[in-house]
Amino acid sequence: MSASASASSPPASSLPPSTSPTITLTNPTPKERTRTWLYNQTEWGNSLTVPAYLEREEYLLSIPLARNGGITNWILTDTSSSCSPVNNNNDDDDDGERPVLAACETLRKRALVRDPADGTVRDVWAYGVASVFTNKEFRGRGYAGKMMELLRGYMAGQHRETGEPAFSVLFSDIGKQFYAKHGWIPLENTQIEYRVRENPPEPEPSSSSSSSSIITLLGDEHIPELAERDEELLRKEIAKPNPVNPSKVRVAVIPDLDALQWHFYREAFICNAAFGRKPSVHGALYTSPSTGSRVWAWFERNHYGGPEKPEKNLLSFLRFVIEDEHISDEELSEAVVGIFRAAEKEAKDWKCSKVEIWNPNPRVRKAAEAATEFQTTFVVRQDKNLASLNWFGEGSAQDLDWVANERFEWC
Ligand SMILES: CC(C)(COP(=O)(O)OP(=O)(O)OC[C@H]1O[C@@H](n2cnc3c(N)ncnc32)[C@H](O)[C@@H]1OP(=O)(O)O)[C@@H](O)C(=O)NCCC(=O)NCCS
Repeated sequence: MSASASASSPPASSLPPSTSPTITLTNPTPKERTRTWLYNQTEWGNSLTVPAYLEREEYLLSIPLARNGGITNWILTDTSSSCSPVNNNNDDDDDGERPVLAACETLRKRALVRDPADGTVRDVWAYGVASVFTNKEFRGRGYAGKMMELLRGYMAGQHRETGEPAFSVLFSDIGKQFYAKHGWIPLENTQIEYRVRENPPEPEPSSSSSSSSIITLLGDEHIPELAERDEELLRKEIAKPNPVNPSKVRVAVIPDLDALQWHFYREAFICNAAFGRKPSVHGALYTSPSTGSRVWAWFERNHYGGPEKPEKNLLSFLRFVIEDEHISDEELSEAVVGIFRAAEKEAKDWKCSKVEIWNPNPRVRKAAEAATEFQTTFVVRQDKNLASLNWFGEGSAQDLDWVANERFEWC
């Protein structure tokens, strides 16, 4: 299959310069889109076979967040190419496929922006950018850079006309420079992580009064109610001024049902292909015995190495929520230990060797570091998964307060 992909590529010697006026950013036909997947499966196929990867990419177009126009595929192409039908419609009659010089996709996400001038909070759209890719033969010619320049121009133009998108996020795996040139500025990128033990402690029997007895494992049935509650809490939080600098604009992507389900559907597909089963546990919840308030976290398994290479697999927290910020340190510690143990057990069951939590709340970090059984490490990410934000409003992305900058936004 990859042979037919390269057969339809133009020879490198006939490639136009990235500055050519005939280079454009447009939407691929279905066949062209399949070709972008054939190109990039060599990089991101991980444990999936080529057919399974193509099936997954097709499937990902139909899941929450992406369906109903939530996802847009983009290609950088050359309108002067001899095999160019210059056809922007997604019809199937595309025998003369255009060259795919670079490709990416954007995912539309619900988001919030707080204006410090009057304290109003607006519901807005943000675009996540994903799967930025240039076929190996075409690299180093400025195509990906040109694509990001055009994509930024498109989004900024839309913003000027309609006010949307308010901003865009992406997660750079190639360091800080490349995307920053086009306005996606890396902001806070810390994490705590811990290794999964050979023999993690078994959960305590439910009659015990230890932390695990007040831990509930979260399945599909819990997602809608907790996502709604999380959004309510986030709206309250973002309505307040930034505690250190009240003049900052505050922004957040909403960790709503679709945002979470996108991860769980994707994860289920990959787990099923690699292990023949799907995860039923998506997180863990602690209930305070004194007040009934809750602390919960969602997580996903990332099988970069598949069943054979557990050392490459990890379990990532998507979102960590503290329902009542006045919860005592003692109870928060109990919550952290209980939730981390539940995550570790899932990681172990799914051949993941590490657990990571992005931009942890300082109190969660403190509790995690005090719980010596996990031996957590605090890391500032420098090269991979750098959460970066392009702001289309006044001022600079550097001056924003990005609230709830956590893994659920990744795409
Ligand atoms: C990254 C990628 C899209 C760049 O495509 P390209 O068309 O060669 O990009 P351009 O020619 O426009 O720009 C190349 C620039 O990216 C930089 N770059 C490319 N790969 C890089 C990497 N792995 N780490 C850091 N910088 C990298 C180059 O140093 C160069 O910088 P310069 O402009 O300062 O000289 C391409 O190498 C690719 O598809 N890689 C595999 C998939 C991937 O990692 N995608 C990014 C996911 S966030």
